[in-house]
Amino acid sequence: MTAVNLFIIFLAVLGIYAILMSRIADQMTPSQQGRHLVWFTLEMVVVLAIFIPSPDLLGPDYRFTVSMGQLLFAVDLGPLLLFQGIPGQMLRPLLKWDKLGRFLTSAVLVGFVCSVIMVGWHVPALFETASRNFPIWILKELMLLVSGLLLWWPVDGPLREWRSAYPIQLLYLFLIRVPMVILGAFFTFANILIYTSRSFALEICAPSSISDQQAGGLVMGVVSGFIGLAALTIVFFNWLKESNQADLKRNILKKENSSGVSSKNIFVVALFFVMVLTAIRLFNPDHTSSDIPLTSDPAAGEVLFNQGTIDSAPGCVLCHTIQPNQVKFGPSLADIARTAETRVKGQTAEQYLRSSILDPNAYIPEGFNPNQMYQKYKDVLSDKQVNDLIAYLLSLN
Ligand code: HEC
Repeated sequence: MTAVNLFIIFLAVLGIYAILMSRIADQMTPSQQGRHLVWFTLEMVVVLAIFIPSPDLLGPDYRFTVSMGQLLFAVDLGPLLLFQGIPGQMLRPLLKWDKLGRFLTSAVLVGFVCSVIMVGWHVPALFETASRNFPIWILKELMLLVSGLLLWWPVDGPLREWRSAYPIQLLYLFLIRVPMVILGAFFTFANILIYTSRSFALEICAPSSISDQQAGGLVMGVVSGFIGLAALTIVFFNWLKESNQADLKRNILKKENSSGVSSKNIFVVALFFVMVLTAIRLFNPDHTSSDIPLTSDPAAGEVLFNQGTIDSAPGCVLCHTIQPNQVKFGPSLADIARTAETRVKGQTAEQYLRSSILDPNAYIPEGFNPNQMYQKYKDVLSDKQVNDLIAYLLSLN
């Protein structure tokens, strides 16, 4: 599917929107109509931004960060714009199926379905299939888009009748962010590559893929966390405003003097602060994980590689050089950045290097024998040191 095809589809959608709009035109002022149209067009632009940078078009530049940005567009920005673009009157006919609609858009059901869809597509096998197979990728983005619409419905849906009550909205907004923030933190603090599929720029340089994964995780965890907090705040103040207006009306009716702060308001404020505090605690990286290294550092790897000994173990330089074709005791590693991924079928360069350091006998290059290399690096090297060494070896050209 080319960008041109996409463009034609979206023109068609815009046409349908115009027809639906003209049917309810008499229920709105021209300026209201104009506002809806602007929001709806913006929404179309966002949807184009989701579909144009596909793995198909971007190739090896289609990075994890791009994918996470698209996720946020699909799940948050897109639906919020769309709901501004669709006037409640347009969906009024749906009220015929009131019971069904309420059930399908209820916070519990929607929250569950959306979490499953979002987490499900990030299971490595599914994510990698989607990034290699274009129709499946389209399916994934469409499902995320629909799940975004569902996700925001209980809070911001055009049909007010089907929105949840305010206290439920608050709890829902909080809970629904948890899977995304946890996924984000997971990508940011995992010091291994989760998605090793070759379409993710791994061919070019593994260390940059690790930082790509971390950046993507930050986009997902932090940005989505902030969107959640912002939404919580808005809903909270709407609730406060409406409950104050309701109190005011009641007091006028009873001809009573308003006592200022009602106990309900105190409860609302307390609930809100508990949520914000918990959220901050959850989003705080120190809380999730502190001692896992953030990045692999090729320079540190180089220093380590050239050490005569590493603790009690022999250093790499004792047996390896990085001069082409120069065999000391082990093979020259001059070309390893290129050859590593060709060694074992099904292993990426990064996986092969990790295994050849931690479990050297797993694969023996031609002309060498098992047990020649030092066998116990897995007891000597930390995860971080292994990552640094791999980053260094992959930077050799
Ligand atoms: C005692 C000598 C010795 C030491 C020390 C040693 N190696 Fe090796 N290394 C070998 C030999 C011999 C082979 C080939 C046989 C094998 O794979 O076990 C090898 C293989 C490798 C390979 C696979 C090369 C290829 O072409 O597929 C890598 C990568 C590697 N070593 C990295 C390291 C690193 C990194 C260190 C330091 C942490 C290190 N080695 C320390 C002897 C050594």
